[in-house]
Amino acid sequence: MIESIKRMVGEKKTGRSKEELLSSIRKFPLPEHVAIIMDGNGRWAKKRGLPRTAGHAAGMKRVRETIRAADELGIKVLTCYSFSTENWKRPKDEVAYLMKLPIEFLKTDLQELIDRNVKVQMLGEKSRTPSQTQLALTEFEEKTKHNTGLILNFAINYGSREEIVQAIREIIDEVQKGNIDKDQIDQDLINQHLLTRGLPDPDLIIRTSGEIRISNFLLWQLAYSELWFTDALWPDFTPELFYQAIEDFQRRSRRYGAV
Ligand code: FPP
Repeated sequence: MIESIKRMVGEKKTGRSKEELLSSIRKFPLPEHVAIIMDGNGRWAKKRGLPRTAGHAAGMKRVRETIRAADELGIKVLTCYSFSTENWKRPKDEVAYLMKLPIEFLKTDLQELIDRNVKVQMLGEKSRTPSQTQLALTEFEEKTKHNTGLILNFAINYGSREEIVQAIREIIDEVQKGNIDKDQIDQDLINQHLLTRGLPDPDLIIRTSGEIRISNFLLWQLAYSELWFTDALWPDFTPELFYQAIEDFQRRSRRYGAV
């Protein structure tokens, strides 16, 4: 059963080269916003007898390659789920390692992102992260804020339910202050109070590692997203798999509830 669901919603072996996939993709409209749940770093490391942190290090390389692939294709927004509000429950050492990744990434990749005209943004509550991590995240945002190319969102300390709770609180505040009337609350207003304000909803959500669930990611925004799952663990997620997800997206007919 699970296998047949996976076949319907995700990866099929194409046996085609990168060039063939790219030339096929370029014929059809691209998703504007691709969001990725990068899962499976721990299992990748375990399979190799390595510490979980080795999986995260290998995952960083795939983050870099995926950003390059998205940028080169002309995708407008790429959102990477990098650390969820639930991830704080992991062992202290692993959390500390994950919190160092943005600092590392700043050193190794900031210049390339600037050269590529990528605008880096954060989704999530930065203030709970260690101060060095906050500094790195702020530097990414500051140094790329005038860029006009790919918008790269790192969802760090992000949880969709909490995002919705915060939006409700802000709206109630506005109503209580008399700035808006209860009847003015509509979907647009809610969108304006989410962390994704100003961004298109994700057209395509990718999850790696064979898990077929959404795990508190962009729950409001995904109402009409196409979902694509692959058994590949995140450190094995090649640009070819990224192209394959996009090609599958292009094949699906999106009707938004109409006929
Ligand atoms: C899930 O795999 C992955 C994460 C919690 C971390 C993902 C982060 C990166 C790939 C790097 C992010 C980079 C920057 C610059 C922020 P898992 O550990 O849950 O794997 P498992 O399910 O196999 O245990």
